[in-house]
Amino acid sequence: MGVELREITAATVRSICGLEVADEQRAYVAPVAVSIAQAHFEPTSMFRAVYADDEPVGFILWRSEERPKSAYLWRFMIDRQHQGKGYARAAIERACTERRALGFDKVTTSIVRGQHSPLGFYLSVGFTEANETTRSGEWVLRKTL
Ligand SMILES: CC(C)(COP(=O)(O)OP(=O)(O)OC[C@H]1O[C@@H](n2cnc3c(N)ncnc32)[C@H](O)[C@@H]1OP(=O)(O)O)[C@@H](O)C(=O)NCCC(=O)NCCS
Repeated sequence: MGVELREITAATVRSICGLEVADEQRAYVAPVAVSIAQAHFEPTSMFRAVYADDEPVGFILWRSEERPKSAYLWRFMIDRQHQGKGYARAAIERACTERRALGFDKVTTSIVRGQHSPLGFYLSVGFTEANETTRSGEWVLRKTL
């Protein structure tokens, strides 16, 4: 299985914006188009499409954190039709390797808690619960790179 993180271009942006999560997961992540729009107002943001075997399957968006050397995983999703195939694990591992190469030593993310939350996923790829919440009430998770 070849999972890659690729730049989004004028030619691919429509298909990437067509990626969507399952109905019951919608409360846990913004639509891709909204994330790309928000990224344009955040100078430190960096986003990529996740491709598996040459097909777009997901989206990832980073920004820098206030703490030096810590990257913030802002948005991450795998399309509903491509979940459960190990693509998210492969994409996070690749993305974290890239962050480490850029000099980051820690990744932080935050999640909405609930029945369909991605907590189990993040724990299975090496994040731990920080036992703190963000100002907006999200549950904070961290991973050392
Ligand atoms: C979370 C998400 C990215 C996982 O994608 P995926 O492609 O199904 O994940 P993978 O197939 O790579 O699974 C990797 C591991 O995580 C586990 N896992 C995946 N989703 C899980 C969940 N919701 N709860 C518990 N474990 C989960 C898998 O069982 C698998 O474990 P294994 O490797 O030990 O077998 C996907 O469900 C998603 O896009 N959710 C909606 C958006 C979201 O919540 N994003 C994060 C917040 S920004």
